[in-house]
Amino acid sequence: MADDAAGTKLGDRMTTGFTIAIDGPAAAGKGTISKAVAAHYGFAHLDTGLLYRAVGARVLIGDDPIEAATTLQPTDLDRDDLRTAEVAQSASKVAVIAEVRAALVDFQRAFARRAGGAVLDGRDIGTVICPNAQVKLYVTASAEIRAKRRFLELTAKGQMTTIDEVLADVKARDDRDMNRAEAPLKPAKDALIIDTSDLSIEEALKVALDEIASQT
Ligand code: DC
Repeated sequence: MADDAAGTKLGDRMTTGFTIAIDGPAAAGKGTISKAVAAHYGFAHLDTGLLYRAVGARVLIGDDPIEAATTLQPTDLDRDDLRTAEVAQSASKVAVIAEVRAALVDFQRAFARRAGGAVLDGRDIGTVICPNAQVKLYVTASAEIRAKRRFLELTAKGQMTTIDEVLADVKARDDRDMNRAEAPLKPAKDALIIDTSDLSIEEALKVALDEIASQT
């Protein structure tokens, strides 16, 4: 827990729970910002995309998506193939199914309420999972910039791909995530929009921390 003014005020509210909701499209930087914000305040962090990726990975090995979502186990989240482009697309596809989303709601809400504070990142945290979150951020960037970042990330991990392939994947996922009937990706009305296209990680993090401090 940081001992600055905002940290102290947040500390006072820790027993009642303090939730920070961070939404946005793929590779906009929300994961990096979420981890850094959680570390700064000593809050727990949940990357909710991992839940959908775990369901998507089980579907790729032949499981039914609703069955996978309702029987998800901690070991499903430990698989080391969850960060591949193939699993990301499968996650985006299972995420349109209302029953899959419904099966994952309680776990996310319980996590959000934990004493000590929580940061959740995803697509529908500020709109559906935690509409009463004390802070809501919507982190975005142009599709081209996001594709470039994701390309560098994937190739650094040894995955074979091209920038065009990654851009097509990003656009297909944006389209599916933003236009689905159930909990589509969009900023909550009271979210601060942070466009990271022209920001460094440090600059984007400062905007996020300033907003959190202003809400405490
Ligand atoms: O954040 P991510 O790239 O790991 O998410 C993978 C997919 O999971 C994303 O394309 C849509 C889905 N998802 C969702 O529908 N709702 C969330 N809260 C998080 C992820």
